[in-house]
Amino acid sequence: MTTESNDTKVTKRRYDRIARVYDFMEGLIERSRYSKWREILWSKVEGSNILEVGVGTGKNFSYYPKNSQITAIDFSDEMLKRAQGKASQQKIKVNLRQMDVQALEFEDNTFDSVVASFVFCSVPNPIRGLTEIERVCKSKGKVVLLEHVLSGNPVLAWLMNLANPLVVRIMGANINRRTVENVIKSGLVVEQITGLATNIFKLIEARKKQLSS
Ligand SMILES: C[S@@+](CC[C@H](N)C(=O)[O-])C[C@H]1O[C@@H](n2cnc3c(N)ncnc32)[C@H](O)[C@@H]1O
Repeated sequence: MTTESNDTKVTKRRYDRIARVYDFMEGLIERSRYSKWREILWSKVEGSNILEVGVGTGKNFSYYPKNSQITAIDFSDEMLKRAQGKASQQKIKVNLRQMDVQALEFEDNTFDSVVASFVFCSVPNPIRGLTEIERVCKSKGKVVLLEHVLSGNPVLAWLMNLANPLVVRIMGANINRRTVENVIKSGLVVEQITGLATNIFKLIEARKKQLSS
């Protein structure tokens, strides 16, 4: 049994609090940008047994591929409650589970694809979470992430580092994560990185290495 770190408890409580305003808070950017990017994200998914990590309030539901078996996890009960409501309302077939991505309860090599949008900016130990994703992904399976990362522009990066503590408190997300580097550290092989806007938003496509027989 793994014990939950203090950082994990704090982050979970933060998302429990944010859950009730999350859809409203992101409404504008969702309509102007994120909805298009979600469409691209889900077009990259392969296979039929899919895991969505950090499902939140279920904003990806309408992009789920038909005829797939989808499991979606989140560690925030309040986020999951909203996702459950949306799933019933929209008649989405999804197996929703309360779980921490840093300690997944799935067997090794379970899923054809693992998907996440705007999650590894807030996972307390992102490399541990990504290593768990790598573990539960099938050999040669795909990992597709939509994330915002620290800018490559030194002035913007300095500002992002400066503003990060305040943004974390208000929004729950770190704006200075180096998620591409973290994906590489987790043992996944990065296949493609697509810049979506302002060199901050990225679509990261990675693959689990083939198991040697
Ligand atoms: C910024 S929200 C994104 C929600 C959703 N993916 C979306 O695109 O709208 C981040 C989500 O990740 C979840 N999360 C953060 N750390 C997590 C962890 N360690 N395990 C599971 N879920 C986590 C939060 O509870 C929250 O619902």
